[in-house]
Amino acid sequence: MAATNVMTAPLLPEAPITNEIPGETYHYIPQDPLPKAPEAVSVEVPQEMPQEDIHGSSQEASEATVPEGVEDTVLEKAQDLSEESTREVAEELPEELTQEMLQEVAQEATQELPIEPTAEVEVTQQPSVNKSKPIIPVKSDLAPCDRVSFEPAKHIKFTPPSKVWTMQELDYPEGKGISPVGVSEPFPLFSEEAVKQMRAEILDEKVWDKYKFSSNLSQCQLRGFAPECAPFIYDAWKSPEVLEIISKIAGIDLVPVMDWEIAHINIAVKSEEEKAKELEIVHRNADEGVADCALEEDDKPVVDWHTDSYPFVCVTMLSDCATMVGGETMLRKGNGGTVKVRGPQMGSAVILQGRYIEHQALRALGATERITSVTSFRPKSAAIKDDTVLHTVRAISDLKELYHQYAEYRFEILQDRFQDVGRKLRDRKRANRPFDTAATKSFIREQIEFLEAMDREIVRDELVQMGYIGDGHLVSDETRQTGRRKGVYLEETVAA
Ligand SMILES: [Fe+2]
Repeated sequence: MAATNVMTAPLLPEAPITNEIPGETYHYIPQDPLPKAPEAVSVEVPQEMPQEDIHGSSQEASEATVPEGVEDTVLEKAQDLSEESTREVAEELPEELTQEMLQEVAQEATQELPIEPTAEVEVTQQPSVNKSKPIIPVKSDLAPCDRVSFEPAKHIKFTPPSKVWTMQELDYPEGKGISPVGVSEPFPLFSEEAVKQMRAEILDEKVWDKYKFSSNLSQCQLRGFAPECAPFIYDAWKSPEVLEIISKIAGIDLVPVMDWEIAHINIAVKSEEEKAKELEIVHRNADEGVADCALEEDDKPVVDWHTDSYPFVCVTMLSDCATMVGGETMLRKGNGGTVKVRGPQMGSAVILQGRYIEHQALRALGATERITSVTSFRPKSAAIKDDTVLHTVRAISDLKELYHQYAEYRFEILQDRFQDVGRKLRDRKRANRPFDTAATKSFIREQIEFLEAMDREIVRDELVQMGYIGDGHLVSDETRQTGRRKGVYLEETVAA
């Protein structure tokens, strides 16, 4: 892709997070929504609700990024962030990484999953949403009468990323993944008005009432609401124009994995006091030349090393994060080294082949709210492999809807493949070519494995514990043990 200067995305006024105002509608994030596991897991719930947080992570985001003067750094040399990362080789990547960076490519911690549990443990279904203990109001900032329909010419404000890092540049072997593209730098995608429209739909009361999910990994996520409640968002991610942009950057034709995964929303909110406190410490440390940020809550979360459930994700920033410090995403390279990239500005996005690149989200400081939209993609062509898994999304989904959409699109893939192979068989016969036994058996084997994968992913309803995401998405045993010690994960692996 031709190198193009990144144009900073338009910044919108930060959505007011204020005390209650008569006549205004607020949505409250439960302070303690974590469903208790059978063994009465107890997890302290901070007021901050970063989606990428995985409590109990051994990856402590102790590194603070100096607020001023660092904006131009794109990929930063990885530092010693944890016991695990001390073993990793940090490498510095080229210059282009600007102030817009991959920030929460991993916020979709809920959409990831590399390792399937080997044992299914029957657990009790529990509600994933607890609306008690309201604490932090988040308010819509657009009147219903100002809602409009998505218009590509008006609402897309796209500038190509200045750089797209290939899998090869990240030292992954040729053929890894479904595309040569690994990760893009942040790029402007949606206009200021588009962001306002999206925020208005996201902050609608009905969305919060029906589609808010919580888990042991994340306190507040909005999922699956787009078809029913968010026509602007739905049309945006379904529009041929947006899909063309995403596909071009990703180096492969992509479509949203399924409607349920259109615009998964991560919500993180802090008070002004918390924000000010964080910035004060960061600035003081910067003045003193201290690299690490010694916040008291420095064991607050990040998303541990993991791979995503879906081949590609597009993470779009819907908050003003001009004052945000940190929040980078760490990528593990194919050679074991790590590189760090920052997140996008408001209206901008980042694309990552997250199913095949291990990554980790670092903590973000100094912002009162951070709302990101994560839409996951799969190959448009049925002929290309689909390694989608459901491990971390079952527990935070309408299970029947998730299974229905997953089964539907996977069966459509099979139908397309059988139609295609049937045509080829017929053509060979008409051309007096012999039956290709080896190729046919290979095709049959692939489809058996495809169906076996589906059988594994569609876990029986009674075995899925809503609101509890197991540790199968973690990469290292060390982080898994730390998570268990802190009560985030159960000792036994559950099917969900
Ligand atoms: Fe991720």
